[in-house]
Amino acid sequence: MIEEYADHWALITGASSGIGAEFARRFAALGMHLVLTARREQPMRELAEQLHTQHGTKCEIVPCDLSESQGAAKLEQAVSAKGLTIELLVNNAGFGIVGEAQQTDREHVMRMLQVNMASLTDLTYRYLPGMMERGHGAVINVSSVAAFQPVAYMGAYAATKSYVLHFTEALWAEARDHGVTVLAVCPGTTRTDFFESAGVGGWLKKRRSQSSEQVVKNTLKALEKKRQYVVSGWKNYILSLLVRLASRKTAVMESRKYFRPSPKKKDE
Ligand SMILES: NC(=O)c1ccc[n+]([C@@H]2O[C@H](COP(=O)([O-])OP(=O)(O)OC[C@H]3O[C@@H](n4cnc5c(N)ncnc54)[C@H](OP(=O)(O)O)[C@@H]3O)[C@@H](O)[C@H]2O)c1
Repeated sequence: MIEEYADHWALITGASSGIGAEFARRFAALGMHLVLTARREQPMRELAEQLHTQHGTKCEIVPCDLSESQGAAKLEQAVSAKGLTIELLVNNAGFGIVGEAQQTDREHVMRMLQVNMASLTDLTYRYLPGMMERGHGAVINVSSVAAFQPVAYMGAYAATKSYVLHFTEALWAEARDHGVTVLAVCPGTTRTDFFESAGVGGWLKKRRSQSSEQVVKNTLKALEKKRQYVVSGWKNYILSLLVRLASRKTAVMESRKYFRPSPKKKDE
């Protein structure tokens, strides 16, 4: 089924690194053409050159800041101006904020809500209706295992991912009779720049983690099966189930132990 997308265009947000760049590599290998977007242009240019050399992929690069309220609109305009029809949208751009409430930068949090939720929603509603009319296409929204519970010290981030999961599952139910799949991906800890960006680079060493390749492979398997969500990795899946069995108080108190960013912790 994924082969049907060969020669069609995918739009990938957050394509300058990590999971987004890996989606680009996988789609290019499948014969798709790509619109890559993020703020940093240079890594996308290098990726596009590589993919063109390896697979003959046509790549368009549209630098865009999705923390701006008009980011999604500007992006859609730029894509339309190139005359491209998007058959596969990957809303992957996102970042996390970790820290105690007293030290949290409110403006930074508001920008995160814009990127992780508002721009993702905006782009979904800009592209999904066209796919439903054509009876073909897919939207992949990147959520997280953090979507399944409240997480102390990263409360706003985890809540954005719960939003993405619920929003996506609801649209999956609406779109499935129109030949369109809407899929939420819930990665666990994944070896990308995410933790450095969130100011907790050391966390990666202490946690079981997956590669971006594993996350994208699991995503494409779930897309084939037209599932509404996928947790990447069976250990992460079990954890997501355990959280649902525990009381809400237990779940959030456990998160307080694991996610406290304090440098005074013994094992830091
Ligand atoms: N790594 C993990 O453990 C993990 C776990 C669960 C979920 N996730 C989710 O996976 C997705 C991808 O993250 P990643 O792990 O691959 O981390 P990453 O390597 O830091 O990638 C984040 C991507 O988002 C883009 N981005 C950030 N702010 C943006 C903005 N204002 N406008 C446009 N693009 C922006 C970044 O590009 P620029 O900086 O160039 O703009 C980058 O391409 C995120 O949604 C994240 O929440 C990650």
